[in-house]
Parts: sequence; C-alpha cells; structure tokens
Amino acid sequence: MGEAVGRRAVLGGAAAAGVAMLAANTATAGEDRRRFAGKVVIVTGATSGIGRETAIAFAAAGAKVGFCGRREELGRGVEREIRRAGGEATYFRADVRVPEQVQAFVDGVARRYGGLDIAFNNAGIHLGKPLHEISVDEWEDVQRTNARGVFLSIKYEVPHLLKAGGGVIVCTASAQADQTRPGHAAYTSSKRAVQGLVRAAALDYGAKGIRVLSIDPGTTDTRLVRPPGIPDDLWARFKKAWGPLNVHGLPRMGEAGEIASAVLALASSDFGYLTGTSVLVDGGLNAGRPMVMPPGFTPPA
Ligand SMILES: NC(=O)c1ccc[n+]([C@@H]2O[C@H](COP(=O)([O-])OP(=O)(O)OC[C@H]3O[C@@H](n4cnc5c(N)ncnc54)[C@H](OP(=O)(O)O)[C@@H]3O)[C@@H](O)[C@H]2O)c1
Repeated sequence: MGEAVGRRAVLGGAAAAGVAMLAANTATAGEDRRRFAGKVVIVTGATSGIGRETAIAFAAAGAKVGFCGRREELGRGVEREIRRAGGEATYFRADVRVPEQVQAFVDGVARRYGGLDIAFNNAGIHLGKPLHEISVDEWEDVQRTNARGVFLSIKYEVPHLLKAGGGVIVCTASAQADQTRPGHAAYTSSKRAVQGLVRAAALDYGAKGIRVLSIDPGTTDTRLVRPPGIPDDLWARFKKAWGPLNVHGLPRMGEAGEIASAVLALASSDFGYLTGTSVLVDGGLNAGRPMVMPPGFTPPA
C-alpha cells in the first residue's frame, strides 16, 4: 500500500485518479501490480483522454504497454509519466488511418515486448453536424479513423494473438452507437461499424481463444466533449449542471479513469466468457432519456 501511495504522489492528477481507482477496485495494491504482470498490451489513441488513462492503468497493473497517437509531444509525456511511476511503456507515433503505420506499430510493440496479449483499439474522433452539411472528406475521415482504424488494428493484431494462443481485443464504440441524437450521422454510423466488427471478429477467432468486444462509454470528460480553452471553473459548473439534466442513472458525466477501470476488468480473466458483444458503461445515460413536459402540463402520477 505504501508503494501505491508513493506512486500516486509521482503521478499527476488524472493519472493518480487512475491508480487510485485501481487500488479501490481490488483487494490490495500488491494484487493491482500483479493483475496484468508480464502481459503485453497495445492501446491506440493514448496521447489523451480514455486511452491515456487506460495505458497508465495497465502499466500500473504490471503490463508492458505499447501505445500510439499522432501528437508526439503528448505521447512522449505519457511514456515518461508511466516510466517515472515504475511502469513500462513505449510510445509509437502512428496514424490509425494508414495501414503501413498501424502494421509497423503493432509489429513494433510485439517485437519490443516479445508478443501481444491484449489490445485496446480506442483511437477515435468526433463530428457533430447535420448529415447534409457533412462534406465527403469529413465523412471519410470519421469512417477511416473510427471504423477502418479499428479494422486495421484488429487485422494486424490477430496474427500476434494467434501466435500467443489467444488474447483479448477491446474496442471503443460509444453509447451513441446504441442511441443517437441529431447531428451524429457520421459518428454514430462509425461506432455502429465498430459494434458490427467486434461481433464478426469474435466469431472468426473465438475457437482460437481470442475474445473480441467493444466498450460503449457514455459522455466522458475528455477533450472530445470539453470545449477548447474553457476555464476550469466554468467547465466544472457546466459539468455539475449537465449531469442531472442528461443522465437519469448516475446524474453526472463519466471520468476517463472510470472507463479505463472498466476496460481492465473486461480484459481480465474475470470476463473470460464475454465476447462478441458491446458493454455500455454510461452511468445509465441510455437507460432512459429525460422527458420534458410542455409548460403548464402535469402528467398524472
Ligand atoms: N469522451 C466521450 O464522451 C466518449 C464517449 C463515447 C466514446 N468515446 C470514444 O472514446 C475514444 C477516445 O476518445 P476520448 O474521449 O478519450 O477523446 P480524446 O482525448 O480526443 O482521445 C482520442 C485519442 O484518439 C487518438 N486519435 C485520433 N485520431 C487518430 C488517428 N488518426 N491515429 C491515431 N490516433 C488517433 C488521439 O490522439 P492524437 O490526436 O494524438 O492522434 C487521442 O489519443 C474515441 O474513440 C471516442 O470516440 C468518447
């Protein structure tokens, strides 16, 4: 426990929250460090947000982590942070839209760490626009990143997992794949594609010991939802008001560390019989929508 506290002192805010979350979710910090000891884990899109927290959490749990993203400075920062905390991770610059780069990244991680056990295919972008205003290039970019990027990742990961005799692939879809809202034609369709991909891939590789599934996060506090440049206090106030208006289950926005904890759980042997499905982690967002009554109308109890 003492060492876990020491590590939290070294890690920054969000990273410390990830480690704290792990400590809270298992019996002892010693178990945390052993949970993925010796495992090789790939994370796509770990320069910020959910991927970053997941890379940190896997490393804190003993895994050797290879991760990618395009923003090199941030990638090197995440790598430094993990190593300073006593973990093992390597950043590779790779764009998931480019097949050669995805293959070089995946093969590079396997070469560096001697194989592959778990992949978290998480890289993604968002686009909010009514369908007729989406340019063909914008449409292509969303699909190439969110859907084709996951296809390419799985394609190049599978040979390594087959060689290892099995493994786990978790992909990031979205709660908006299950229920959408206006202005989300490109994003929702790309995330629906991820849900379809994991179902089909689970059937291709289940008999070979590879589980494939998606995690569907609800609205989570990352740069994907936080307006750029907004002051911290204003964002905190917005977040506080947003929760009860939008999430009828747990009335708040999700945190990236909470999604990371769920990814680790799904990748663990605790979920050894789970494959070919999508797991909503959305605080109850999609369980029910707020029903707003016209002014002056009170429905019967
Ligand atoms: N936040 C939410 O409310 C929410 C809800 C449901 C699902 N999601 C999904 O969660 C995933 C992570 O998003 P986030 O919320 O954590 O936002 P984020 O901080 O923007 O993370 C997105 C990550 O994807 C990477 N990425 C984007 N395009 C890439 C490309 N072409 N090649 C390689 N990496 C790329 C980004 O790195 P670079 O920019 O450095 O390349 C970044 O590391 C996404 O798939 C998103 O759709 C988010």
